[in-house]
Amino acid sequence: MTNPVLPTPPELDALWPEERLIPPPPHLARRAHVPSRSTLAAFRAEDFPHPFAALADLLVWTRPWRTLFDDSHPPFWRWFEGGELNASANVLDRHLPAAHGRVAYHWIPEEESEEPRSLTYGELLERVETLAAVLRDDFGVHPGDRVTIHLPMSLDLPVAMLACARLGAIHSVVFSGFSARACAERILDSGSRLLITADVYRRGGAILDHKAKADETDALVTEGGGRLDAVLVFTRDAERYASPTPLRSGRDHHLNPLLARRRGTRVPPVPRASNDGLFLMYSSGTTGKPKGCLHGHGGYLAWVAATCRWVLDLHPGDVYWCMADIGWITGHSYIVYGPLLSGVTSLLYEGVPHYPDPGRPWRLARRYGVRVFHTSPTALRALRRLAPEGPGLERPPFEILVTVGEPIEPEVWRWYHETVGARRAAVVDTWWQTETGGHILATLPAADPMRPGSAGPPLPGLEVAVLDEEGRPLPPGSKHAGTLVLTTPCPGLMLGLWGDEERYVRTYYGRFNRNPHSHDWRDWPYCPNDGARIDTDGYVRILGRIDDVINSSGHRLGSKEIESAALAVPWVAEAAVVAVPDTLRGQAVGLFVALGPGAPEDPAHVRRTLEETVSARIGPIAHPHHLWVVPDMPKTRSGKIMRRVLAALVAGRDPGDIATLANPEVVSVLAEIVAGEGTARQPPG
Ligand code: WT7
Repeated sequence: MTNPVLPTPPELDALWPEERLIPPPPHLARRAHVPSRSTLAAFRAEDFPHPFAALADLLVWTRPWRTLFDDSHPPFWRWFEGGELNASANVLDRHLPAAHGRVAYHWIPEEESEEPRSLTYGELLERVETLAAVLRDDFGVHPGDRVTIHLPMSLDLPVAMLACARLGAIHSVVFSGFSARACAERILDSGSRLLITADVYRRGGAILDHKAKADETDALVTEGGGRLDAVLVFTRDAERYASPTPLRSGRDHHLNPLLARRRGTRVPPVPRASNDGLFLMYSSGTTGKPKGCLHGHGGYLAWVAATCRWVLDLHPGDVYWCMADIGWITGHSYIVYGPLLSGVTSLLYEGVPHYPDPGRPWRLARRYGVRVFHTSPTALRALRRLAPEGPGLERPPFEILVTVGEPIEPEVWRWYHETVGARRAAVVDTWWQTETGGHILATLPAADPMRPGSAGPPLPGLEVAVLDEEGRPLPPGSKHAGTLVLTTPCPGLMLGLWGDEERYVRTYYGRFNRNPHSHDWRDWPYCPNDGARIDTDGYVRILGRIDDVINSSGHRLGSKEIESAALAVPWVAEAAVVAVPDTLRGQAVGLFVALGPGAPEDPAHVRRTLEETVSARIGPIAHPHHLWVVPDMPKTRSGKIMRRVLAALVAGRDPGDIATLANPEVVSVLAEIVAGEGTARQPPG
């Protein structure tokens, strides 16, 4: 049996011809942490889990661990059991006093005329301790409490995360572009009593009122039966509160005066058990409700520290720039925890990459001397389209060019390698997920040859397989696509889903687990829900999600979440969301709706209402790029909407066997509607 959402062998050959290997730039090996694979020869998957003991030495522990790999509660594997440590001490105190004056972050405002602000490791620690003192002494934050942080790309964001970590509180950062409703949903699920937010931020040349969202969030939290004790507001500019939305006395607190009062307070880091929660990061899945991925301390921090050495090759004092947003896992692992563990100087950029023009990233990278640059295929597609000449002759000193988040087309990969890197830098395609905490598949920049479009082999010590529908591994070089699984556990993997053990087991292990009572990790392959193909040499090509998740511009969107938002419009009777292939975003959101009584006559009104509702309930990232109003949905006899048929229609593929549908006649009607689509309005930002 074949999986209908995966490409067939002829489709694979047409779309993804196997590319040749390109050797790594030879000069990288001189300084690299991993000059050749033999450096990490001890990390043999056959010896699992023993080689990973060495990773604990990348961290500073206040109590040493006793059990390397605890398998007593499968598949909730626990690493470095018995050990204690504090995350903020690991990323800050350990570098001091030596790195006191080294810049941790250069914050770059979006407007070029505005002055950048830099924060040294010493200053960062001072800010973290001051905020920790406010959280502890003014708001009673205790170890294990959840604190929700809804901040844009400002220096306050890492400060807030690390202040929570210092106190042993669990931070839950909500991407600033998410709506108040999305924020409220996460607050309710995590049981946070505190929201840290900001007055305003800049994006795409506009000043956005962020505080307004906090008021709406609070109202929705109350409506949902929760309660926020306080809303703490950072101001973008120290001198003034710039939001038109006033502070509400009793609930809202302007942080500046509170911080001023506590300045200079020393707050000792609270030791946490290796497997206590460090942070929550919500991510979309198959159902309408986002999943709270809970990451821990020991395993997570060890894995991000290791991958920063192996994959990003970060050395203390290196200049590094990851253009992601800290509000996603990439930012948590590879703007905050990993880079600070590594002692590098990072750029933290407020705005959109191509503002005010597509030369901006290259100007910045040149000015600061960025050695390791990290971005997404979507950003690269946009930069390439807007300015195919790239950085030109005055190339920044790039040595490693990282990509993450979605499959990268070989043409875009080659542009990154040849035009951005002038063939002197290694391109590293990293495949991983919110759930894995850090990289899983990647080439090692100085040691491994690269293959455009392939994320590469698993990192040392790990093993993966691509399984067919019956759960049998496809042989390397197979012409068939299958489902990727991680066959060894990984120290970076989350502890579980917040408040839902059963969902964790079902979502990630339900499909391929061999025996639910087994304590042997070999019986529990981890299923990331990605389709893949494995090359003869073990390099893996990721083909995209096989569940109801859409990857648009590298953002992970649950089709069910967007459908629920559309169904909130009273006159929408049915809604179905599918991924539409898109040359710029990878995938775009395609929304089908069937209208009920009370629907407006004017198609523009229908479109506007749906666009506004989706944006208000989730955020502009879920904008429906395509909208089709249809008389009926293709359905099974039991009434289930067949999204697969819709997905085939929008991708111009054969919808396959439709004879089993309850209403096969609707398919040709839908095909005509899809073919006659008008142009969709573009989302803001
Ligand atoms: C999904 C995870 C990894 C951090 C950012 C996204 C897709 C991720 C790649 C890549 C092809 C990729 C997968 C994965 N994905 N990296 N290098 N090549 N696809 O984290 O939001 O949890 O999304 O992104 O489909 O399952 P996320």
